[in-house]
Amino acid sequence: MSDHKVTVSTLAALRAREQKAVFITAYDYPTATFLDRAGVDMILVGDSAAMTMLGMPNTLGIGMDEMLVFVRAVCRGAKRAFVVGDLPFLSYQVSDEDAVRNAGAFIAAGCDAVKCEGGERVARRVRAMTDAGIPVMGHLGLTPQSLAQLGGYRVQGKTLDAVTRIVQDAQALEDAGAFAVLLEAIPAEAAALVRDRLNIFVYGIGAGPHVDGQLVISHDLLGAFVGDIRPRFVKRYAEVGRDIERAAREYAADVRAGRFPAPEHCYAIAPECEAEIRSARTTRALTSPSFAPTLP
Ligand code: KIV
Repeated sequence: MSDHKVTVSTLAALRAREQKAVFITAYDYPTATFLDRAGVDMILVGDSAAMTMLGMPNTLGIGMDEMLVFVRAVCRGAKRAFVVGDLPFLSYQVSDEDAVRNAGAFIAAGCDAVKCEGGERVARRVRAMTDAGIPVMGHLGLTPQSLAQLGGYRVQGKTLDAVTRIVQDAQALEDAGAFAVLLEAIPAEAAALVRDRLNIFVYGIGAGPHVDGQLVISHDLLGAFVGDIRPRFVKRYAEVGRDIERAAREYAADVRAGRFPAPEHCYAIAPECEAEIRSARTTRALTSPSFAPTLP
């Protein structure tokens, strides 16, 4: 793996070698740094931050200001990975102007590309953004910003009609200049058909193996998501949430038992002052009233 910044050309080279791109979400500087050091190819600053980082029930409540905080932190940490900023709900749906301005803000903050949800119905916005020189990734299948229309977090593209619609939407995105499409929660065969029909990159999250790369939400991978949603497509590689709880319990027990701080955690006073300070403490202990809260 080279240390060079991942670009669209790097992604094309991966695809030409039939090597899958490794794609993970991140929302903060340390996670982006660790993922980058691990050699991840792409990082998505997802609007899933609403749920993973802010404890919201879905992705609809996060806006550009909050996303920009996460985007800037990730861009500081990701020196090599290709960073995609996820346009939040209502940041691109209303007008071409909004779409270009908000996508432009992500690029100015350091993203390599932006992502937006929807197919034919957002193709016009995708064209406006790509005409402004901004690389755009589409997002089809389970699109969480349309949760109310989809009736919940459900697998999409299970029937021929549904797959045909996804293919048409993907083609509309390609025609509008998108450089990639992300497919979420659709059957592997449906994703394979989309990939066969497109010339642009097709990435998947819960879309099986026949795509150009695999995305996972870092909190799912690491066992750090607080909530009940645990999609079938997630494979867990760590139990960070459990480790945080365990560490905090052990720390609390040490503090309460006086085991922390131990001598090795304390700073030494300058040796020539030690005796004087000790004696000042003893004098104070003898002359000042003992500390106790005064009750009314
Ligand atoms: O916000 C996000 O993390 C996403 C993925 C679920 C695809 O859009």
